[in-house]
Amino acid sequence: MNKLPDDQMLKLAAQSMFDVFASTAMGSMLVDRQHRIVWISESYKQFLPALGFHSAEAFVGKRVEEVVPNTLMNEVIDTGKPILVDLLSNQAGTFLVSRLPLRNEAGEVIGAFGMVLLDQPETTMQPLIAKFGRLQRELDSARQQLAAQRRPKYSIASFIGSSTAAMEVKRQARRVAQTDSTVLLLGETGTGKELLAHGIHAASARAGKPFVGVNIAAVPETLLEAEFFGVAPGAYTGAERKGRDGKFKAANGGTLLLDEIGDMPLALQSKLLRVLQEQEVEPLGSNQVQRIDVRVIAATSRDLPAMVAAGTFRADLYYRLNVLPIRLPPLRERIDDLEALVETLAEDIARRSGLAHKGLHADALELLSRHAWPGNIRELRNVLEQATLMTDDAALGAAHFQPLLAGTAPARAVPQPVLPPEPAADAAWPMPLPQAVAELEARFIRRALQHTGGNKLAAARLLGISRATLYQKLPLIGGLPAAPHNATPQEGD
Ligand SMILES: Nc1ncnc2c1ncn2[C@@H]1O[C@H](COP(=O)(O)OP(=O)(O)OP(=O)(O)O)[C@@H](O)[C@H]1O
Ligand SMILES: [Mg+2]
Repeated sequence: MNKLPDDQMLKLAAQSMFDVFASTAMGSMLVDRQHRIVWISESYKQFLPALGFHSAEAFVGKRVEEVVPNTLMNEVIDTGKPILVDLLSNQAGTFLVSRLPLRNEAGEVIGAFGMVLLDQPETTMQPLIAKFGRLQRELDSARQQLAAQRRPKYSIASFIGSSTAAMEVKRQARRVAQTDSTVLLLGETGTGKELLAHGIHAASARAGKPFVGVNIAAVPETLLEAEFFGVAPGAYTGAERKGRDGKFKAANGGTLLLDEIGDMPLALQSKLLRVLQEQEVEPLGSNQVQRIDVRVIAATSRDLPAMVAAGTFRADLYYRLNVLPIRLPPLRERIDDLEALVETLAEDIARRSGLAHKGLHADALELLSRHAWPGNIRELRNVLEQATLMTDDAALGAAHFQPLLAGTAPARAVPQPVLPPEPAADAAWPMPLPQAVAELEARFIRRALQHTGGNKLAAARLLGISRATLYQKLPLIGGLPAAPHNATPQEGD
């Protein structure tokens, strides 16, 4: 085979391409540097009548922009840049077109070559356009769903209560919503810290951006760092190979709720402090920092100053978080709000369960207002839910609540943790000491779970043990509520 010199090969390639395009395109034309049409292909002649010409002679020699409405051949010549694919619409129809500049040996533009690739692209390209349209619609609806999911579920007004204490909480929440500072929500379990965090985000300038929550106590310690800061691609093998964003990144532009901040391991506390100060995160396995813009709301039911004193919480992080603290009062300190809370919660329970809304008789309210509510609004909600589900009666009286509250915290001013009565184990005397201890433990655990409406984490707190220890003991005690709102076995059973 003869080897052709390179420039000859190029010339042949150019010639062949021109021939192929000129013969297969639905029409093609050459235009010179002055925008004058110098040649049209045989096939192009089919468009002439629609453009108002009866012969090629009359058409050739005209300036292209004067005879082909909406053409961009002139632009290709003036800029020297090709327009590889474009839609051209004029009185002759809609066409898929391609326009290429032509250059001399010195590289100067000497004109342009234009081709009509397809006419009626609306029909010939219909399958493609339809697919594109469908994908576009799917994308739009997915975006809307995502936005709806990320939209805050609550506003500050969803924090029900008009007592002085509740109004003060809402006033402070509205005030901090206007700022970008870190907020610290303090309060017993079930007092509405998470609900208020949503409300603050919704009332802030960041409302349109994501609200992301991470429950520190629920994430195994070894995974927390990756959860917070993300993992760089290639840092690990296997599922994490591609890397993933952390919660800080996911919340970028918006708000990050660090729930149960008191459960943060010491080692990570210093890292978190740095992130809060620098507004920068460094994914695991990466040496590049990413700038982030996140407002942090931290929440805990723990006594942080006591933890600082005990050396389990870093003092510097505590001061950094404690810029704008809001203390959520326990329900027993705002018992005036009970009626309004019952009203709202009962409505919500009815809506979710599909059952009719059940009102409360005065004696029921009176009984509930004497209860200590160590599990606060969550406990109230669980009690209302149980009472609603356990009877077909249209309204709930004290009798419906009595069995649910019996054996739990009796009076309001009782300090936590509430002590159970003397174990009935006394009756079984004598008994080996380990068994007696185990029985006592089981009673306390059951009781704590009952107080917290089945919330194990909160129960562990009440008992002053770790969540892991509680989980270890659960199988040993038996008779546990299957779900948080299932009836918990009463003492002495
Ligand atoms: N003021 C309130 N008005 C209406 N509902 C409330 C209020 N406070 C709390 N709730 C409801 O009580 C339940 C517990 O609230 P939330 O989860 O916000 O408490 P929390 O303080 O975060 O508790 P924990 O410390 O156990 O995580 C939720 O169902 C919430 O909607
Ligand atoms: Mg919470």
